[in-house]
Amino acid sequence: MKNRKRIVDLVLGDKIRQTFFIKEAEFRLRRDGKTVDGFFKLTDSSGEIEAVYWDLSEQKIAQIEKMELAQIEGQVSKKRSGGQMQISIKTIEHAPESTWEDFIPSTSFDIEQIMQGIDDKIASITHPHLKALLDSFFKDAVLLEKFKKSPAAKKLHQAYRGGLAEHTLNVCQICETICQIYPQISRDFLISAALLHDIGKVEEYQLRGIIDHTDKGKLIGHIIMGAEMIEEKIKLIKDFPEDLAMMFKHTILSHHGKLEFGSPKLPSILPALALFYADDTDAKLNGLVCLKEENKYLDKKWSDWIWWLERPIFLAEDNIIKESGNRSEE
Ligand SMILES: [Fe+2]
Ligand SMILES: [Fe+2]
Repeated sequence: MKNRKRIVDLVLGDKIRQTFFIKEAEFRLRRDGKTVDGFFKLTDSSGEIEAVYWDLSEQKIAQIEKMELAQIEGQVSKKRSGGQMQISIKTIEHAPESTWEDFIPSTSFDIEQIMQGIDDKIASITHPHLKALLDSFFKDAVLLEKFKKSPAAKKLHQAYRGGLAEHTLNVCQICETICQIYPQISRDFLISAALLHDIGKVEEYQLRGIIDHTDKGKLIGHIIMGAEMIEEKIKLIKDFPEDLAMMFKHTILSHHGKLEFGSPKLPSILPALALFYADDTDAKLNGLVCLKEENKYLDKKWSDWIWWLERPIFLAEDNIIKESGNRSEE
């Protein structure tokens, strides 16, 4: 991995010899009925690039089919169709499976600073039972390590290492503002629920070159998993009030706000409704920020259709605001 160049930094003509994760591999037979070419999608922590390997032997195909991490030697060239960059592969060998997580992007914020923000929120909680519940999670060193690495999603929002911690703190900040505008809402209750609302995600995803769901994540999902984890911890806390436990679990179970978004119950108390809106606000805004970033270098005014917004997005907004500001200064 020494002197490796990240995918986003590769330029035309670069000669490379480094490890990538093989996200997709496709083998196509040419019209001559004999020659097979390999087409790949390769990733590292910075992004994704296509690659091509012309004229593969049967033996090489069998080897590649077993590879996940590959040591690749080649050169950055341009695709004939479309003109995008791709890697023309000269050699491809199996790479040791030691550094899976190096191939997953990370939060752009300092994870220790995010965790400090989360610690400050926990320290601000004065309700004894809610404080004990938070401590039972965030003082567990094994769980904490998982929490720091977890993404918040596979795609849509904060889909990177540290994404869960970043999203959790953002949701807490939005909830703080809601509590200032609506002091009728119990701050201790809402912030505690915000801190734990996605805790099930520590078991929902696995990082193996790409972010993927675990079997448990696919079969049960983080909402129910989180509620179960909370129930287990509550059982160990002496005299945890039953009604408080019921309302807390309701708030976790209803945080996606709608049955079709995976919540088995709809938010039926004030903090549960507040948490749903705070969660949705951060997920959607972050999703859109990430989408704009991905489209940054493309010369398009409109994004493709975004399924989770059910619309395409106008991408020229920043230029229009900036240029109109410059004009008014002249
Ligand atoms: Fe969630
Ligand atoms: Fe969330």
